[in-house]
Amino acid sequence: MKLHILSDAKAVSAAAARHIADRVQAGGVKVIGLATGRSPIAIYELLSAEVAAGRLSFADVTSFNLDEYLGLSAENSASFHAFMQRHFFSKVPLLAHHIPDGMAQNPLAEAEAYEAKILAAGGIDLQLLGIGSNGHIGFNEPGSAHDSRTRIVTLAESTRIANATDFAAAEDVPHYALTMGIATIMSAREEVLIATGPAKAQALRAAIKGPISPDCPASVLQSHPNLHIFADECAASLL
Ligand code: F6R
Repeated sequence: MKLHILSDAKAVSAAAARHIADRVQAGGVKVIGLATGRSPIAIYELLSAEVAAGRLSFADVTSFNLDEYLGLSAENSASFHAFMQRHFFSKVPLLAHHIPDGMAQNPLAEAEAYEAKILAAGGIDLQLLGIGSNGHIGFNEPGSAHDSRTRIVTLAESTRIANATDFAAAEDVPHYALTMGIATIMSAREEVLIATGPAKAQALRAAIKGPISPDCPASVLQSHPNLHIFADECAASLL
C-alpha cells in the first residue's frame, strides 16, 4: 500500500490526477474504472484540462463506472450518467464508456452483462475509488460479501443522506442501485483511493488500520497488491 498524504483536497486532486495521467500516458491503462461523487470532480477537471491542452489522450481507453442508481435515467441530472457527462465524457473522448443502466428492464441481467463486458474488455487496469463515511466503496455498503460481483444493492440511510444534495428533496434519493461488487473492484490491477475532509477520517482509519472485515468494505483493499491512497491531512488525521 502506498499512502500519499497531502495538505488539502486541492493537493490530493493534483497528485491523483498526475498519477492517473502518468499511467495513461505510459500506456498502462487501457481500461479504467471511474467513480462519481464529490471526491473525483477536481481530478476530472484536471484530466480534462490536460486533454484540452493536447498533453493527454483517452482515445484508446475504455471506462467502466462503479455504479448507478436504480430507476434514474441518463437524462436525470442526479444520475451518475449525467454526472459523468457533465464532468468528463463531454470533454474527454474515450474509446468507449460504460455505466450500469439504472433503467434496465431486468437489472439482474444488466448486472451480469456488466460483469461480462468488463471481462471482455480484459479487466480493469486502474480503478478510481472514493470512500463513503461508512467505509463503502462503490455502493458496497457495510456487510457486502468479499466475493460479491455487480448486483442490485440497497443503499444505507447514511449514503442516501450524504447524497441528498444532488436531489431536489431528500426522499427523492433512490433506495436501490447497481454497483460493481467487492470482488469486481478487487480484480482491478491497480486501485487509487481518494479520501478528503474530516468526514472521511473514521472510515479511512477503519479501512487502513482496522481488521479486514465486511463491516468496513474498504478494508478489503489492504489485501490488494497495488493500492495507492491519496488523502488530505483532515482525512488522515486519525491514522
Ligand atoms: C461513487 C461511489 C461512492 C463514492 C463515495 C464517496 O461512484 O461509488 O463510493 O465514491 O460515496 O462520495 P464523495 O466523493 O461524494 O464523498
